[in-house]
Amino acid sequence: MRHYLTTPIYYVNARPHLGHAYTTIINDILTRFHKLAGYETYFLTGTDEHGDKIVQAAAQANVSPKEYADQISALFRAAWPPLSVETDDFIRTTEPRHQNVVTRFLDLVNSKGDVYFGEYGGHYCFGCERFYTEKELVDGLCPDHQTKPDFVSEKNYFFRLSAYQDWLIDYIEKRPDFIRPEGYRSEVLGFLREPLEDLCLTRPKSRLTWGITVPFDSNFVTYVWFDALINYVSALGWPDGELFAKFWPAAQHTIAKDILKPHAIFWPIMLKAAGLPIYRHLNVHGYWRIGQSKMSKSVGNVVEALSMADKYGSDPFRYFLAREMSFGLDSDFSEDRLVDRYNADLANDLGNLCQRATAMLVKFSGGRIPWRLADAADVEWRKRLERTRSTYESAFLSFNPKGALIAVWELVGYLNKSVDLEAPWALAKDPLKKDHLDAVLARLAEGLAYIGALIWPVLPKTATEIWRRLGLNPNRFSLDFAAIFSQLPHDRPLIADAPLFPRIEVAKGQDSGPKSESAPKSQDLKKPTKPAEEPSAVSQAQKVAPAAASSLSQIALSDFQKIQLVVGEILTAEAISGSEKLLKMTVSLGEAQTRTICAGVAKFYRPQDLVGRRVVVLANLAPAKLMGIVSQGMLLAASQDGQLALLAPDSPLPAGAKIS
Ligand code: MSP
Repeated sequence: MRHYLTTPIYYVNARPHLGHAYTTIINDILTRFHKLAGYETYFLTGTDEHGDKIVQAAAQANVSPKEYADQISALFRAAWPPLSVETDDFIRTTEPRHQNVVTRFLDLVNSKGDVYFGEYGGHYCFGCERFYTEKELVDGLCPDHQTKPDFVSEKNYFFRLSAYQDWLIDYIEKRPDFIRPEGYRSEVLGFLREPLEDLCLTRPKSRLTWGITVPFDSNFVTYVWFDALINYVSALGWPDGELFAKFWPAAQHTIAKDILKPHAIFWPIMLKAAGLPIYRHLNVHGYWRIGQSKMSKSVGNVVEALSMADKYGSDPFRYFLAREMSFGLDSDFSEDRLVDRYNADLANDLGNLCQRATAMLVKFSGGRIPWRLADAADVEWRKRLERTRSTYESAFLSFNPKGALIAVWELVGYLNKSVDLEAPWALAKDPLKKDHLDAVLARLAEGLAYIGALIWPVLPKTATEIWRRLGLNPNRFSLDFAAIFSQLPHDRPLIADAPLFPRIEVAKGQDSGPKSESAPKSQDLKKPTKPAEEPSAVSQAQKVAPAAASSLSQIALSDFQKIQLVVGEILTAEAISGSEKLLKMTVSLGEAQTRTICAGVAKFYRPQDLVGRRVVVLANLAPAKLMGIVSQGMLLAASQDGQLALLAPDSPLPAGAKIS
C-alpha cells in the first residue's frame, strides 16, 4: 500500500505561522508513521501564489506580485526543515509545470460541456476571493472579514457544480471515512442539502491579471481556487507522470476547517468532471487559538508562536502540537501549556525512563544488554507490546496522532513503574537472582528501543538519540518489535549520557508568552548540562529515587496517617527583610482563619508569582518562630542539585482538600 499526503498550499500574503506549521508537521508525522509501517510515501506542500490577495499584498510592499511571491514562498520553503519536516516536493502555482496542467484541466472540463459563459452579479469579498449570496452575509458584512463586500456584476465563465450535486451526496454517504472526523462529514452533507450554485471559474483581466489565462478565452484568468486545487495533481505530473500513476490512487489531503468547502465540494466535483479518480481521504482539523481568540494572520503572536520551536527545540514543539490537539477540535496554544507538557511527558516520563534504563544497565550489567532466557514474564511482555502496537497503529490509521502518543506513553509509564516494582538494585545484591536481573534489564532495553521507534514520527531527533545510546542503527526504525530486539547489541557497551530533556523551570502564573526569559534556549536543551548518574540520581524529576527509597527504614500506614497534608492557596507573599531565603505568606487551608507560613523559597520564586498558587501544606506541624515570625505550617517542595519545585495538585482542588 502507498500513501500520498498533502498540506494546503499556503497563500504567500503572510509569513509562515503556527497554523501552517501544525498542518505541515502533522502531515510529516503521518508520512513518517507510514514509512515506519513499511509503506511507500510521498509528501507534498507548496505555495498558492495567484489572485487578488497577493496583488494587494505586493502593492503594499511596493514590489511586483512575482517578486513578492518569490520572497514569501522562499520563507515557506525554508520554514520546514528546521522543524524536521521532510517533504518530497514543494510546488508553486507560478511554476510552468503547474500552469500547463491547469490549462489542460480547464480544456478537458470545457470539452466535456461543464463550462458555460454567463453574467453574474454578487457581493464579492476580496479577502475571501469569492462571491457571497445575500443569505450568507451577516448584517450585510462578510462573515469572515466583517467588511462590506463590493457589489460586482460581470460576465464570467462558470463551472457546473450543480450538475454533480446528487453524485457527490451519494459518494460521501457511501464512504464513512472519506471526510474525517465525522463532524466535518456531517457538515458537508448538511451543506449539500441546499442546492449548489455553479462556481464562477474566471476573473476578467480588466480586473485581475495575476492568474493563469484560461485556454478558451484570453480575456480571462482562472479563479484562484480552481487553479490552486489542481496543485495536488500537477505536482505528480498529471496526466501521464509516473508519480501520478503511482501515488494519486493513494491521495489524502489534510486541511483545517476554514477550507472545507473547496476541498470537500469543489475538488471532488472537479476531479469527477475531468474523469480522474477521487482522492481517498480528507482529514480536517480544528483551529489553534491563542488567548481564546481565533488565530488570524493579522495577529502577530501566531508568528511568534512558531518561535517556540527555536526556544524549546523542534522535537518538543512537534510533540506538543500532536499531543495537545484532539484532531478535528480547536485547541489553545500557550507557552505555559507547552512547558507543562515538556516537563510532565518529556522530562519526567520519557527522559526519566531513558536515564534510568541506561544508568542501570551501566551499573548492573557493565553497560551491556544482557542475553536472557525466555521466562514466564515474556508472554505478558509480548502481549503488552502487541497491544501498544495495535492501538498505536489504528490511532494513526484513523488520523489520531494524539491517540497514538497516548498508547506510547502508557508503555513508558508501565516501564517506569516496572523499574520501581522489580527494583533491579535489590536483585543485584543477590547472586541467585542474576537471571531475573538480566531479564529485567534486557526487557528494559527492549522497551526503550521499541519506544524509540514508536516516537520517531513525532520526535525524530529524540528517537535517533535513544537508538544511538542503545547502539542501534536508526536507519532500521520499524514497527516490528521482534526485528528490533534481534538487532540489540549484546557485545558492546551502550551509552549513558546526559538527560534527554532537562527540566524547564519557569516562574508560573504568567503566561510568559514568547518572551519568557527563564526557560532554556533550544541550544541549551540540545546540550544538557548534567551527565547521567546511577539510579538514585538519574533524574531531577524522578518521583521515587530507587536507591534512596530502598535504603530508608519502613513506616506503617498509621505513621503516615499522623501527617495532615492539605491543599493550601497562597493569598499573599512577601519578602522578609534580613532574610535571603525566607518568604512570608498568608495561606488559606479552607479554615475560618488563614495561616501565616514562612518558607525557604525566596531564591526560587518571586513573591508575586506565588500569589494564587495551590500548594501542598503540612498542616499539623507544631508552630515555629522564624525570623521573629510564627510560622503555622510547612509547604512541601522537591529539591535536587540546587533546584527546588513546590508541590501542587495537578488540578486546582479547593483549599483544604485532604491529601492522602
Ligand atoms: N491557499 C489556500 C489553500 C489552497 S489548497 C489547494 C489557503 N491558504 S492559507 O495560507 O490561508 O492556509 C490555510 C491553512 O493554514 C489552513 O487550512 C490550515 O491548514 C492552516 N491554518 C491557518 N490558520 C490556522 C489555525 N489557526 N489553526 C490551525 N491551522 C491553521 O487557505
